[in-house]
Amino acid sequence: MKRQTVRVAAAALLASGVTAATAVHAQWFGSKESKGIPLQQVADMLHAVMESDRTVYTQRVVNRLQNEEKVIQADEHFMDKKALPLPAQMFRFGAEKVAEKTKSFSYSLLSLWPVNKQNAPRTAVEKDGLKFVADNKGKNYYGEETLGGKKYYTAVYADVAVSPACVSCHNAHAETPRTDFKLDDVMGGVVIRLPMN
Ligand code: HEC
Repeated sequence: MKRQTVRVAAAALLASGVTAATAVHAQWFGSKESKGIPLQQVADMLHAVMESDRTVYTQRVVNRLQNEEKVIQADEHFMDKKALPLPAQMFRFGAEKVAEKTKSFSYSLLSLWPVNKQNAPRTAVEKDGLKFVADNKGKNYYGEETLGGKKYYTAVYADVAVSPACVSCHNAHAETPRTDFKLDDVMGGVVIRLPMN
């Protein structure tokens, strides 16, 4: 998402009467635009878009074509196998594009039970956040951390098994450390990081 787009969304939110209150503010929305918008709200807005796109791809593309209509599979090696990219791969491709465009935020999909060990948490806030969203269904986690001398606002959101395709694929995967996922279980989390200075 471009900075401009975030500004438009922020302006819309402010216009709709959301107050800035006492929360931490994103510096990009600086002094000109009223009181600015709290970082938590920025993260929540970004997450709403990510989660919606991820759910739509899983339900309307992967689950429909693979599990219901049995037309095409989703596969890690989608190029070689002429298959659909996995939902997690789609998510990462988007995150990589964003990283090429802007340093104003970054995001990733992680889990305490990762199929791909690269997706295990690395920082203490990531670990605490993933554990919190798994133990407290329906709640998000918000923290701050300093990485490489820079301060970040880090939000963690539960990644839920919204479709039977999530569960069947993970439980059957050769590398999975967990085989008892059920529909609606928290399978991991989306981590969104916003620089604070
Ligand atoms: C067809 C198989 C398949 C489907 C469907 C699928 N996943 Fe995955 N998922 C994977 C694989 C394989 C990875 C690792 C991919 C990578 O990192 O390149 C992964 C990665 C993840 C991760 C990051 C942690 C990890 O396990 O590596 C989470 C969280 C996750 N998936 C949750 C879900 C949810 C929730 C759904 C449904 C919305 C879903 N997955 C659908 C196979 C699948």
